[in-house]
Amino acid sequence: MSDHIFIKSKIKRFNKQIKVGSDKSISIRSILLASQAVGISKIENLLESEDVLNTLKAIKKLGINYKKKDDNYFVEGFGLNNFNIKKNTTINAGNSGTLARLILGLLIKSKFSIKLIGDKSLSKRDFYRVIKPLRYFGANIKSKGNFLPIEIKGSGFLRPIIYNEHIGSAQVKSCIILGALNTPGLTIINAKKSRNHTELMLDSLKYPIKIFKTKKFDKILIQGHKQYKSFNYNIPGDISSAAFFIVLTLLSKNSEIKIKEVNINPSRIGVITILNNMGADIKFKNKRIYKGEQISDIYVKSKENLKSVNCPSRLNSSAIDEFLIIFLVAAKAKGVSKFKDLGEMNKKESKRLNEAVKFLKLIGIKVDRFKNDINIHGKPDLTLSKKYEMKNFLKDHRIFFLSCIAALTLGGEWKIHDKKSSNTSFPNFLKILKMVGAKIN
Ligand code: S3P
Repeated sequence: MSDHIFIKSKIKRFNKQIKVGSDKSISIRSILLASQAVGISKIENLLESEDVLNTLKAIKKLGINYKKKDDNYFVEGFGLNNFNIKKNTTINAGNSGTLARLILGLLIKSKFSIKLIGDKSLSKRDFYRVIKPLRYFGANIKSKGNFLPIEIKGSGFLRPIIYNEHIGSAQVKSCIILGALNTPGLTIINAKKSRNHTELMLDSLKYPIKIFKTKKFDKILIQGHKQYKSFNYNIPGDISSAAFFIVLTLLSKNSEIKIKEVNINPSRIGVITILNNMGADIKFKNKRIYKGEQISDIYVKSKENLKSVNCPSRLNSSAIDEFLIIFLVAAKAKGVSKFKDLGEMNKKESKRLNEAVKFLKLIGIKVDRFKNDINIHGKPDLTLSKKYEMKNFLKDHRIFFLSCIAALTLGGEWKIHDKKSSNTSFPNFLKILKMVGAKIN
């Protein structure tokens, strides 16, 4: 079956209200934490994307049952480190760095060796960043060159650690937090700021976790071996998915969109700060707090005369998955936009910084690249009329989404491969795009 789409016309003016897919980070965490709770947890609005379905399959392989009833998922946990692990178990994390890195934290006490594998893209990503702290805890890990496949066997003599997480990676931080749950004593992490959903979820479960915030780092103290009860969690919309519709609206003419019930956790909304700095007027309405997370509706209107940005690198972690789409706005903004220290982008599902440079050049934008920094020379009157083909991007879902939004706002005739990559994080992406008015074949 063909796995490509054609987009041959720009989207016409629209005024719509939508709901995007549920938050992927929170969906994965809710399943993993439910697998360690005592009792049956209920998860509403779980994102049914491949990364999340692979998380459900992973806990199932580890002896945790779940079922779906009336759109809700029920996960039955038996408390910390109560997986029922069989010999020769292999877990396939598919495309998901979050699943692969976080689940390792839960396996540091496993009595048998477990093999962790992933798809082509995940098998190219660095795992040393989690292997190192997990070995400090005492886990036994075998890998060739710090890539998947990895074999992990737990230890009965785990010790708490003090760890400086200086990448600003929520996956590394969360892996250590989950490792700390299974380790006696007090684990301390000095973590460079990154998304804090794991901490908020544990705090809402009254788990003994303490956080002391400074400007750049959070000091996190986790007491190990404390059981917690099952819980209910209703997953909000994903700002990383909303970002594509925000930019679609910004770059279209005379259009408006309201995106309902999106998680606007301050550690995730760098994209809004950056786009508003470029002259957008993105508003939050009906804000509320849910289990420590901030939820809101997002209002966006089209905007002409966007201006360039000199993006401070302190915003990098809070917009790490959104830079691809932010770069598209920079391509249409007046002036030269500057972004720094984006090396982490090259450690994602594809080498996204390299891919972004190729993409911007393809659409006729001048880019200066200095290792991990890029300058984008915007063209406010950029419109496209040629034929474009997007392929060989390692099936990176966010490059697929970027290509669709570029086609719908800039014009040209586009053939975009790897449609199925949208299942990784946002299976309804094309359906919602069509609902907003896009013509896609
Ligand atoms: C995620 C954290 C980010 C992000 C990824 C999801 C998470 O990765 O890019 O898509 O759920 O913790 P890093 O923490 O490695 O930066």
